[in-house]
Amino acid sequence: MSRKPGKAAFAEMVELAREARQRAHAPYSGFKVGSSLRTRAGEIVTGCNIENASFGLTLCAERVAVFKAVSEGLMDFDAVTVVADSKRHTAPCGPCRQILWEFCGDIWVHMVGRGGRTHTLRLRELLPLPFDGKNL
Ligand code: THU
Repeated sequence: MSRKPGKAAFAEMVELAREARQRAHAPYSGFKVGSSLRTRAGEIVTGCNIENASFGLTLCAERVAVFKAVSEGLMDFDAVTVVADSKRHTAPCGPCRQILWEFCGDIWVHMVGRGGRTHTLRLRELLPLPFDGKNL
């Protein structure tokens, strides 16, 4: 198991995800989400949710962060944040768990709610019996 990123790394991830959250395009749900994904080398890539009038085309913040990072050639991730201004922690949705597993494996998932209240789990805990390349 990898070491949990330190306090400073976590604070930077949350700050960057909060900034990204401001850029969320969420006119339909009004629910803005920011995310940040960190490589083991310390590089941080952000994402925000991007909705569409054709609702099913909506992209979650985590998925935007993963696809941005992968398309830039980054890999070897160790942590992701999901930041929302909600009382209840926002956990990645089912499809995002699957996408995160594909590219990140068993990383740290920091769910940050109102006032910075944080709940941290490993992705394996959110996706206990993953389907992946090993099944094929
Ligand atoms: N959403 C995310 O961006 N990430 C999550 O983990 C949960 C949901 C977005 C999708 C949609 O734009 C809005 O939140 C309401 O579902």
